[in-house]
Amino acid sequence: MGTAPVRDALEASAVEEAAGIIRRGGLVAFPTETVYGLGADACNPEAVARIFEAKARPTFDPLIVHISDPAVASQYGDFSHPLAPELISRFWPGPLTLVVNKTERIPSIVTAGLDTVAIRNPAHPVALSLIRESRCAIAAPSANLFGRVSPTDAPHVAEQLADRVDLILDGGACSVGIESTILDLTGSKPTILRAGGVPPEALEPFTGPLAWSTSEPARPLAPGQLPRHYGTLTPLQILPENLLSRRGSGIERVGLLCFTSPKDSTGFVAVEVLSDSGDLREAAVRLFAALRRLDSLGLDRLVATPVPEQGLGIAIMDRLRRCATLDSDIPAAYE
Ligand code: TXA
Ligand code: MG
Repeated sequence: MGTAPVRDALEASAVEEAAGIIRRGGLVAFPTETVYGLGADACNPEAVARIFEAKARPTFDPLIVHISDPAVASQYGDFSHPLAPELISRFWPGPLTLVVNKTERIPSIVTAGLDTVAIRNPAHPVALSLIRESRCAIAAPSANLFGRVSPTDAPHVAEQLADRVDLILDGGACSVGIESTILDLTGSKPTILRAGGVPPEALEPFTGPLAWSTSEPARPLAPGQLPRHYGTLTPLQILPENLLSRRGSGIERVGLLCFTSPKDSTGFVAVEVLSDSGDLREAAVRLFAALRRLDSLGLDRLVATPVPEQGLGIAIMDRLRRCATLDSDIPAAYE
């Protein structure tokens, strides 16, 4: 396929060109407010098959369907759940994905054979105009190779997928930086399948106390829940800050990912600070880019300090835990 062109989404014809590719069954990487997506026409099974191929993603891992307008949601899923109208009016467009029963318009390759479908209405002008001009819903996973760190800007996408997509639409850096929250409305209780850009505290005033998925790692409902996912190639360990002094020395070359400025980072060869002011939103925006920078240095090991587990911190810690391959001294929450 060669190297895909990267087009500035603000260029007059860029979105139109991208939409033409989607309509013809091609693949376009595009920005959303959470992370970049790798999109194809959700109603074209051959096009959707190319997504799985490009990402080297197992076909048992279902995709999210992106729509431009809540008004068309019922064409793709059954939104008769009593909570659906309120959740949609409060959180769409935005980083909330709802899992509902699918309609026959959605080919089974999109949902990996499930009777349910994950649908979201992204809050990004480029994503919305691409979907609108494509005149279809767009199925899209994050635009990274399977199991790797999600992309939050166009160069991240190009690093892993330049020769596997038809076009990369560059809309700058993502404003949320972490994937959408996935909320399953098909069970007896609304259940969070993946922590993400909408914190549970924001949902609970409308949903009541939420359940958290406890699916078996071997047969995950949402493979974002695989224990090892969102991975760096460099082994990563989570350690509380008071234990850092034990780790940052010796002959190993170790990188440090910190929430706020560390008191002492002696011995670490590279340090990434997620938010000097301790702002979880800023930390979420910077997380994946910081992991990629550290991962590109060819170090022996990475150490990450935990962030407070509230608001977006829940999703950040979820990603760090799934990234961690080395024993960590922090207990898992929500398991
Ligand atoms: O923010 C996001 O959600 C980004 C942007 C591009 O929209 N997309 C994203 O897609 O993170 P992906 O494929 O990396 O993660 C989608 C997750 C997977 O873990 C998948 O298993 C889950 O959604 N999923 C999709 N359909 C599902 C369904 N019917 N039931 C349960 N989980 C589902
Ligand atoms: Mg992903």
